[in-house]
Amino acid sequence: MKTPMILAMAAALLAITVVDHSAAASGKSGPKQQQIAHGEYLVKAIGQCGDCHTPMNEKGEFVPGKWLQGKKLDFAATVPMPVWADTSPNIAGLPGWDREKAVQFFMTGLAPNGQPARPPMPMYKMNRADAEAVVAYLQSLK
Ligand code: HEC
Repeated sequence: MKTPMILAMAAALLAITVVDHSAAASGKSGPKQQQIAHGEYLVKAIGQCGDCHTPMNEKGEFVPGKWLQGKKLDFAATVPMPVWADTSPNIAGLPGWDREKAVQFFMTGLAPNGQPARPPMPMYKMNRADAEAVVAYLQSLK
């Protein structure tokens, strides 16, 4: 009785090891993947970036396949604004952005030219870990 039990346990352990190994090999549970998951959470749940950067259909749903690809905004300020951007850029993959400059942008709200983006783009003041996570997530969308 004892021997089959030990064999079964050994088989179970081996199975766990095999699963663990394949997950690590594909990077699914590694630190990079966790960072991307945290960035996804910040973008979707906190920053609500999709509201301004993702095209929506007439029901207000995100258009599939267009996630964070930029759009002409469907709202405007109710008071005159000296500066206002009526179009948001494509940020899926962060095309044209140097990684560290993008991190600085989310930490300071200032673009590489030293200027803030025009409203309604918020000036985010994230800590470095959060800014790096957001950039990792956006770059993963290539
Ligand atoms: C309220 C609307 C709004 C929200 C929310 C928003 N954005 Fe934007 N974003 C814009 C607009 C509009 C622009 C274009 C600004 C311009 O052209 O000066 C912009 C520009 C940008 C740029 C380019 C900046 C530059 O100087 O080139 C990046 C990168 C960006 N947004 C990322 C994000 C991320 C990431 C989030 C969420 C964490 C986010 N945005 C949330 C409206 C928004």
